Amino acid sequence: MTYRSGRHFLQIPGPTNVPDRILRAIDRPTIDHRGPEFGQLGRRVLEGLKEIFKTRHPVVIFPASGTGAWEAALVNTLSPGDKILMYETGHFAMLWHKMATRLGLEAEFIPGDWRHGADAEAIGARLAQDDGHRIKAVCVVHNETSTGVTSRIPRVRNAIDHARHPALLIVDTISSLASIDYRVDEWGVDVTVAGSQKGLMLPPGLSFNSISDKALAAAKSAGLPRSYWDWEDMLANNRSGYFPYTPATNLLYGLDEAIKMLLEEGLDQVFARHARHAEATRRAVRAWGLELLCAEPSEYSNSLTAVMMPEGHDGDRLRQIILERFDMSLGAGLTKLKGKVFRIGHLGDFNDLTLLGTLAGVEMGLACAGVPHRPEGVRAAMEYLAPPAASKPAGEPRQHRTAQAAQAAAQLR
Ligand SMILES: Cc1ncc(COP(=O)(O)O)c(C=O)c1O
Repeated sequence: MTYRSGRHFLQIPGPTNVPDRILRAIDRPTIDHRGPEFGQLGRRVLEGLKEIFKTRHPVVIFPASGTGAWEAALVNTLSPGDKILMYETGHFAMLWHKMATRLGLEAEFIPGDWRHGADAEAIGARLAQDDGHRIKAVCVVHNETSTGVTSRIPRVRNAIDHARHPALLIVDTISSLASIDYRVDEWGVDVTVAGSQKGLMLPPGLSFNSISDKALAAAKSAGLPRSYWDWEDMLANNRSGYFPYTPATNLLYGLDEAIKMLLEEGLDQVFARHARHAEATRRAVRAWGLELLCAEPSEYSNSLTAVMMPEGHDGDRLRQIILERFDMSLGAGLTKLKGKVFRIGHLGDFNDLTLLGTLAGVEMGLACAGVPHRPEGVRAAMEYLAPPAASKPAGEPRQHRTAQAAQAAAQLR
């Protein structure tokens, strides 16, 4: 491989670009994971995570990719043959369903069209029929990374409550945590599944479960075999900041820094920043004359956008041209969307100019690949991000502005 100057644009919807502050934090000598310094680090990150997940309850960390936390969520709460209800939002929901079946669960899958989020009414209707409360858990992917559709979790919670059903609510937030608003306690989520490599801005390698009291009680009688994923050993060790086996120490240095960065910026600001970049991206897509895969505006994802290719044009060819010409990686269409969409990741460590560089790479790529489009996307995004002073749309969020810049602008008016 020859050297390519400049920084690669990693605009897949995770793993995301790792900021220098986190790289520097990880780049330190590994310490004794049974020594006193580690205990302090462990306690700090375990406490800090509660703020990110918005919970008073424990959050556990596995040295594993997100798939590990999927498995941990199921094996700690369920028994062989248990019935669970899952919703087909896209590729990742499908993989989770496959895992549940492999683990010996009776996993009912409500079919979806991969353009909408989980339908809370359909979930509620199914639960209402379940008189004997055979369904032990409802599993939903909050942000379906294969489609760019965000399901409305509070509606799912309401549907469960309305049906007066005792099922656990288990939510995958792998591509939403720390980029799209998510509240464990307020939304009554029993188990969250999350990963390090997206909104948390870390390399891949850590995954998480938040655990409600109800989930912890379910774990007492859950009969699926488990050892590595067992919450009990983990929680017992975590009380003093330690782990039951060797933790990913250097990734925890990075996590410590990531939590600091997210809290310095403020979670509300982090969510607003993602919302603003997502809206700018959607404006660019429309200006190109292309179609968004997500069919429901209230379910648009703020962490990624899946763009449909015009008939007769292949998304993988476009991505290959963009990689070769402009050194940028975009997300592929997965399983039944292969070649039919490409996905722009706009999450994690990201600002206006990273977004504009990304959109410029896509716009140039569309031209190079001969995909019919109007070359107006970057301009549409720029106009949204920095509207000319006289035509600033009323009520438009300007959260990117620092207090100092706002003061300077006020003086100019
Ligand atoms: C929504 C969602 N769930 C689960 C996974 C699987 O996580 P991992 O690949 O880290 O094992 C991913 C990966 O991108 C994802 O986006």
